[in-house]
Amino acid sequence: MTIIQTARYGMAQEALAIVGGNVLTQTGLIRADVMVEEGIVTAIGLDLDLPVAAKVINAAGCVVGPGFVDLHTHLREPGKEQAETIATGARAAALGGYTAVVAMPNTDPVLDSAFVVRAVLDLGAVSTCEVAVAGAITVGRQGEALSPIAELAKLGVQLFTDDGSGVQHGGVARRALDYCRGLGVTYAEHCEDNAIAAGGVVHEGEWSAKLGLPGQPASAEEAMVARDLLLARELGARLHLLHLSTQGSVDLVRQAKAAGIKVTAEAAPHHFTLTDATLQSYDAVFKVNPPLRPDHHVQAIIQGFLDGTIDAVATDHAPHTKETKDLPFDEAPPGMLGLETAFSLTYERLVLGAKMSIEQLFQVMSTNPARIAGLDRSGARPYGHTPHGELVAVGNVANLVVVDLDATWTVDGSSFASLAANTPYEGRVMHGAIRHTVLRGEPVVLEGVATR
Ligand code: NCD
Repeated sequence: MTIIQTARYGMAQEALAIVGGNVLTQTGLIRADVMVEEGIVTAIGLDLDLPVAAKVINAAGCVVGPGFVDLHTHLREPGKEQAETIATGARAAALGGYTAVVAMPNTDPVLDSAFVVRAVLDLGAVSTCEVAVAGAITVGRQGEALSPIAELAKLGVQLFTDDGSGVQHGGVARRALDYCRGLGVTYAEHCEDNAIAAGGVVHEGEWSAKLGLPGQPASAEEAMVARDLLLARELGARLHLLHLSTQGSVDLVRQAKAAGIKVTAEAAPHHFTLTDATLQSYDAVFKVNPPLRPDHHVQAIIQGFLDGTIDAVATDHAPHTKETKDLPFDEAPPGMLGLETAFSLTYERLVLGAKMSIEQLFQVMSTNPARIAGLDRSGARPYGHTPHGELVAVGNVANLVVVDLDATWTVDGSSFASLAANTPYEGRVMHGAIRHTVLRGEPVVLEGVATR
C-alpha cells in the first residue's frame, strides 16, 4: 500500500484514483480519471498508470468538480450545541458536497473576539470540511461599537457581518464599511431594516393577511440594500449582500453592478424553490429570515442567477431543535437546514428548470463563493485553509466533489448528519446527489456516506 506522509497535516494518506467521471477542467468537461497523491491532483487523463495500491473510487456517469463552498452556515457552536456542533455541521457540509463553509457569527458568545474565533477555527481544522469564519461587525452584534476588525482580519477573517440582524444605524454601517475597505476585507450585510420590518414574521402580502400573521414588506430588505450600495459607491468599499430574497433587491444589485459598484450577492435555495404559500400549514419549519416570498420574487432570484447579478448559492443553513421549532409560529426561531439539500435544489431549479449549465452551477456553488470568501488561490487564507473553487487541474489541492446527476433520493430530516431536522423539504424526491466528497485528498464522503 502506498502510504504517504503529508507534510502539512501529518496524516498518512493513501493515493486516490477517481475513475470514470466527467471532469470539470479548464478545457471544459472531459471524460477522464483523476489521480491524487499527497492531497494534490497529480494526473488527469485516460489510461493513467495507477499505483497498484491506490484507493479507487468510482465516478462512472458522474461529474467531478471543485468542492462546493458555502458562504453562509450557522454552526451553533459555541452556545447552542444541542442544535449543531462544528463537527456535525461540517459532516452535513461534506455530505452536501462542500469542502469549505463560512461559519456565521451569531453564536453565544458572538464571534467578535480573537479568542472565540480562534476556538472555532481550531475545531474546524479537525473537521470534515474547512471552516472559515465571518466575524461580527459590532461587539455582541449590538449594532453600536465596532468589533476588533483588524485583529480578526489578522487571523484570516475575510467577511464581517452582524448576520441574524442588519446594522440598523447608517453611520455605524458607513464607518464599518470604510474600516473594512482599509483592511482589504469585505463587509457583508443581512439586509433588514427593523423599523420597516416592524416585527413581521412572514412576508407582508396575501398570505400574511389570510393567516393573520404579522408581515414584513419587501422594502424592509430593499431599503437596506439601497443604503449599503450608496455607501459602498461613495467609499469605494467592497460589499457582499447576504440571502437576497426580493425582486427589488435583485434590480438594485443589477444596476449597481452596471454602475461599477464593488458588490457581490448571494441567495439561498429556499428563496428560489419555495413561496410563502407554504405557510398555509402554519408549520414553523417554513419560518425563515428573510421570509419566503410570492412567486414573482422567486422568479426574480432565478433570473438574477442566470444573468450573473447573483454570484453565489449560499445555504443559510440554520439548525434549530425540534423543541424550539414546535413553539407557536410567532415564537419559533426563523431558519431552516440547507447544507444537505442545496446541490439537488440548485440542480433541479437552475439547471433542469432554468437551463443553467453544469459549469455555471459550479461557478455559483464553488468558484464564486470561494473568491468572495477569500478561499481561492489568490485569497488571504492565512489560517492554513487550502484553495477551493478551482477547476480540476494538475498541481491543485484535491478539494473535490463527485456528483451523480441521474440519482434520485427522498429527503428524510431524521437521517441527516445535522443534529437538527428542520428541513422544509421533508419527504420530497430530489434529483441529483452527492456521491463522493474529497477534502485535501481524503475521501470524507464515499458513496453518499460520511467516512468519519
Ligand atoms: C438565522 C439563524 O437561525 O441563525 N435564521 C434565519 O432565518 N436565517 C439568522 C438570521 O439570519 O435571521
